[in-house]
Amino acid sequence: MLCVPNHVALIMDGNGRWAANYGLPRYEGHRRGASVVRKILRIAEKIGVKYVTLYAFSSENFSRPMDEVNFLMKLFEKSLRKYGKKFVKNGVRFRVIGDMSKLPALLQTTICEFSNDTKNFSRFNVTIAINYGARDEIVQAVRNICRDKNIDPDEIDWGFLQKYLYTADLPDPDLIIRTSGELRLSNFLLLQGAYSELFFTKTLWPDFWEREFREAIENYQHRERRMGA
Ligand code: IPE
Ligand code: IPE
Ligand code: MG
Repeated sequence: MLCVPNHVALIMDGNGRWAANYGLPRYEGHRRGASVVRKILRIAEKIGVKYVTLYAFSSENFSRPMDEVNFLMKLFEKSLRKYGKKFVKNGVRFRVIGDMSKLPALLQTTICEFSNDTKNFSRFNVTIAINYGARDEIVQAVRNICRDKNIDPDEIDWGFLQKYLYTADLPDPDLIIRTSGELRLSNFLLLQGAYSELFFTKTLWPDFWEREFREAIENYQHRERRMGA
């Protein structure tokens, strides 16, 4: 039997270009993009994917115009309130990866609330990467290791380092999907994705939908994962 990826990570790109194609402001693309998430989560759960990680905002995205950043932060807060209640009701574990300290206080509170309320669930796991950057993640990890004077440098191997990453309690992604035609990872899960299978599509995130998600999974099922062996 062909195996379903345990962990699928999605780089949700192309909201701005989608809006521009319709002569709409960028925020309409973000709004429409947020509504696609629910459908993708539903299909992923149905086909047996256990972990879904969504790249919503990179550490570099803070360099966008203030209006756009503020709009996105409010959209995350609003969407999270809506989804969060459903996660609690349906037994879905919710996590955020990234540096939360730079997010608006209200968003931080909402994240903490739903992370905490769902912490005992494990059947289906939804993780949102907000203010996430793989380079920032490794810098934070190294700082925390250096702060602990009891650590013997010879003890440090990959298994040890992993525990200091934002993804400490997550498995590595099996499949990383990026929409919008860009063929890059843009600072997303660079270490965790060392052996991930990659799927790129030209479809813009607001147009990404069930058929193409299933196509990405099927495509993954025909890959031979050698992991260097
Ligand atoms: C992805 O869409 C969403 C975020 C990065 C927040 P973009 O906003 O990057 O859309 P494009 O790439 O400009 O079309
Ligand atoms: C990557 O998209 C980040 C997210 C999708 C959240 P960007 O639009 O920020 O990436 P670049 O600038 O095209 O590399
Ligand atoms: Mg983009």
